[in-house]
Amino acid sequence: MKILVIGKNGQLGRSIQKFISNYDHHEFTLAGREELDLSSSKSVSKYFDTHSHFDVIINCAAYTAVDRAEEEADLADQVNHLAAKQLAKFANSQNTKLIHISTDYVFDGQNESLYLESDNPNPINVYGKSKLLGERAILKTMTNNALIIRTSWIYSEFGKNFVKTMLKLGSEKNEINVVSDQTGSPTYASDLAEAILNIISNDNFIKKIFPTEIYHLSNSGETVWSSFAKEIFKLANLKCKVINIRSGQYPVAANRPKNSTLNSTKIVTSFRINLKPWRESLERCLKNLSKIN
Ligand SMILES: NC(=O)c1ccc[n+]([C@@H]2O[C@H](COP(=O)([O-])OP(=O)(O)OC[C@H]3O[C@@H](n4cnc5c(N)ncnc54)[C@H](OP(=O)(O)O)[C@@H]3O)[C@@H](O)[C@H]2O)c1
Repeated sequence: MKILVIGKNGQLGRSIQKFISNYDHHEFTLAGREELDLSSSKSVSKYFDTHSHFDVIINCAAYTAVDRAEEEADLADQVNHLAAKQLAKFANSQNTKLIHISTDYVFDGQNESLYLESDNPNPINVYGKSKLLGERAILKTMTNNALIIRTSWIYSEFGKNFVKTMLKLGSEKNEINVVSDQTGSPTYASDLAEAILNIISNDNFIKKIFPTEIYHLSNSGETVWSSFAKEIFKLANLKCKVINIRSGQYPVAANRPKNSTLNSTKIVTSFRINLKPWRESLERCLKNLSKIN
């Protein structure tokens, strides 16, 4: 299969690249902002005019700066909504399958339990709204052959993320304030990357026409940011103390949902994905990080 991975330099894009040598029966093309700029519809059209047919597009690129999006709503909308729609139109016209990544931040966080795909989204920040519009545009444009995978709290060896920030702060400070009133499931980008590569190798994905649907996929279990930080310090043997604070004590531009834990049962049963517990995956990421640093 010819597979295009968009967003090659992001956490997920780079995590997919870790595994593609195991899939050498497929031909991967990797595109970053320099080849395919999602903020420009002309750049997107030009890219597809100059490249031949792909069997699958995996869109890992997004405008992900949650706080900055409050000031750059038009740019977030272009990248997360309008470009997603353009990709879906292209995929539809070429009979190409699309995997698009979305977010737990489409929910308002008021649920007491884990969110199902059938629960009503109601984003409380600009980023979440732009991602929800992207999902809806894909659902409308491609009635078949797209999977929209919502995930949450991504971290990895690559780029900027909570785990790397905590490792830095934990080695510099004796104590640190971390919010303790937002619940979610930390997700190791490597696990998500492996799951995506498994899905595209599944006969149900590649050999069949399937209706476009939303799926949730996070590591299993849930935590709050402060407990996540404590676990990082424990595993990394850092003595920094974590002080629990409420979201209101750490003002940021964008609101965050209080609970954005996703129920991933649907993707597990549909594609036989093996969900890993978040603590186990965190440990693996820390081991991989110490190999890198
Ligand atoms: N990070 C999270 O906690 C989280 C949580 C839930 C869902 N998600 C979703 O998961 C997916 C992957 O996230 P991630 O953490 O891997 O994101 P990331 O590390 O921030 O990477 C995003 C990638 O998108 C690229 N990008 C941004 N604007 C672009 C543009 N105009 N044209 C082309 N590429 C552009 C960036 O390019 P540059 O490298 O050039 O900047 C970057 O490589 C996204 O759909 C995100 O919304 C993320």
